[in-house]
Amino acid sequence: MLFRRAPGWPVVLSDGPVLLRPYRRSDAAAWSEVRCANREWLAPWESTPAGDWADLNSPATFRWVHRDQRRSARTGEGMPFAVCLYTDGAERLVGHINIGSIVRRAFCSGYVGYWVDRRVAGQGVIPTAMALAVDHAFGPGGLHRVEVNIRPENGPSRRVVEKLGFREEAYHARYMHIDGAWRDHIGYAMTSEEIAAEGGLLARWHRLRARTP
Ligand SMILES: CC(C)(COP(=O)(O)OP(=O)(O)OC[C@H]1O[C@@H](n2cnc3c(N)ncnc32)[C@H](O)[C@@H]1OP(=O)(O)O)[C@@H](O)C(=O)NCCC(=O)NCCS
Repeated sequence: MLFRRAPGWPVVLSDGPVLLRPYRRSDAAAWSEVRCANREWLAPWESTPAGDWADLNSPATFRWVHRDQRRSARTGEGMPFAVCLYTDGAERLVGHINIGSIVRRAFCSGYVGYWVDRRVAGQGVIPTAMALAVDHAFGPGGLHRVEVNIRPENGPSRRVVEKLGFREEAYHARYMHIDGAWRDHIGYAMTSEEIAAEGGLLARWHRLRARTP
């Protein structure tokens, strides 16, 4: 499908200190710092690297990553957001969320991937980012369904989707080549109807947080 402009892109989304925005070329140094500082934290959950981690996550590599992200966003096949924390008037890049492999027409569906800097883990940054991105995708982004596939061993990531109310719907044996081997994944999904009556995923997330001490 060809667009003059991809639905709902570009956009900046925020909730409290969590800010989602398109990447910029000037993110290269910050992106490389956070990726290199988090090698042990991220490697077990990411596709098997095709080379050395430091090279694949260098500021120079970011130029290629950024070019690929811009292309997918322009064609409507992806919504790649830099996840930032905005505090004391300063913005810090702390993670990533992408709705990728978007197929439109009769599917209007995409896959969500994400990570956050270990130094800010456990503060609800990614559930907030997920709620912002999914609400946007189901609205101006023109999607009807999002899917998340997670290794069974990844407790923190499963917590993210389970507390947001994603439906567990599949077990994919030997699904993706992650950290050196073909790994099983659990498939979770959500469609726009499932969240509409609650005023969206961010509204649901706010209610959940208000209930949790
Ligand atoms: C999965 C991930 C994105 C969660 O992001 P987050 O912003 O920390 O999400 P939350 O704050 O909701 O924390 C999720 C769970 O992590 C666990 N957690 C809490 N604090 C933590 C910490 N300091 N360190 C590690 N895990 C922590 C808790 O089980 C928490 O769930 P609960 O507090 O609701 O019971 C993050 O752990 C991460 O980037 N992991 C490495 C990459 C990855 O797994 N990506 C996803 C692949 S599918």
